[in-house]
Amino acid sequence: MRLSDCHNFHDFRQLARRRLPGPIFDYIDGAADDEVTHRRNTASFEHCDLVPNVLRGVETIDLSVTVMGQKLALPVYCSPTALQRLFHHEGERAVAAAAARYGTMFGVSSLGTVSLEELRRAHDTPQVYQFYFHRDRSLNRVMLQRAKDAGVQVMMLTVDSITGGNRERDLRTGFSIPFKLSLAAMLQFVIKPAWGTNYLTHEAFKLPQLDKHIDMSGGALSIGRYFTEMLDPSMTWNDVAEMVQHWNGHFCLKGVMSITDAKRAVEIGCTGIVVSNHGGRQLDGSRASFDQLAEIVDAVGDRIDVLMDGGVQRGSHVLKALAVGAKAIGLGRYYLYPLAAAGQAGVERALGLMQSEIERDMKLMGCRALGQLSRANLRFR
Ligand SMILES: Cc1cc2nc3c(=O)[nH]c(=O)nc-3n(C[C@H](O)[C@H](O)[C@H](O)COP(=O)(O)O)c2cc1C
Repeated sequence: MRLSDCHNFHDFRQLARRRLPGPIFDYIDGAADDEVTHRRNTASFEHCDLVPNVLRGVETIDLSVTVMGQKLALPVYCSPTALQRLFHHEGERAVAAAAARYGTMFGVSSLGTVSLEELRRAHDTPQVYQFYFHRDRSLNRVMLQRAKDAGVQVMMLTVDSITGGNRERDLRTGFSIPFKLSLAAMLQFVIKPAWGTNYLTHEAFKLPQLDKHIDMSGGALSIGRYFTEMLDPSMTWNDVAEMVQHWNGHFCLKGVMSITDAKRAVEIGCTGIVVSNHGGRQLDGSRASFDQLAEIVDAVGDRIDVLMDGGVQRGSHVLKALAVGAKAIGLGRYYLYPLAAAGQAGVERALGLMQSEIERDMKLMGCRALGQLSRANLRFR
């Protein structure tokens, strides 16, 4: 199986599975507890049908959107994800370059493996910095300033990870940073030598968003301990309100699911929220993002940009979320499997397929611009 054999999400996932050591594949593929929310995220799109209009003169289609002040050529963006150089040695460099080629926004995680400054210098498409709130408030301020100085356009605070999700696949394989693998998991690395060679022959693994501020080197602090020791579970709306003021620019909360929280986000001056359950990796049993989207849009959609992510695998999923009222849609595993399968070429192919699917489906729906999609185009089963 080669990259040219990949025509959809499932093909990329299959190729990634072949190329990655099992524990790393499971880290991407897995979710919390029984992975119910993860499965429902995609399944929920199937409970909604599209109702097309015809004969609308659809020879040219405009796929651009403006979200949190950023003009994107596509209504999808690459949501921030951790540890990308572990999946493929090109890591964030590949994802940022592919996003730039398609004129869309990309997120850089606090747990990213390439520095936000390097990525900012390399491309001029909008960049999001995904932030976790630390116990040390002065550290938060320094990190915010660093992102500001680098020219990051959107600050995205993840609010659904006040504690780590229960990822049982990782417990079984022993996946953690630094590696602490079970014997069976080690065998997986031996039988995928190409991944091992790439990993060992490229720049050493590091976490440049954190390394300058926290000693994460030489196994001093594992990611698990980073979450329990460095991050602040006592964080409240007042803390975030202060951060929003301090940032003084586009500020987005990622992981908002309730109307109450969406309203609070508006009150404290956020310009965006992402309806998200972290790809089912945090609270299992949490509602699917697409199911929850309409009530959030109805409550605050006229005052704040409502984005969503979770389970998106198809252009038709994107159209459904836009028709409900989302301003842009985040992709996670959709670009991570292609990254693992083939680096930048993989992510570009995946974004290219997504672009064609959205464009084709828009034509079939009888819409020339994304703003023409509405709930009149949807029926729920
Ligand atoms: C392997 C992996 C790592 C992730 N790392 C982060 C992260 O560091 N910060 C964050 O806010 N979200 C992270 N996410 C969540 C994504 O940003 C996004 O919300 C989620 O993947 C969307 O669901 P989907 O994968 O079904 O598209 C991660 C997701 C995956 C799959």
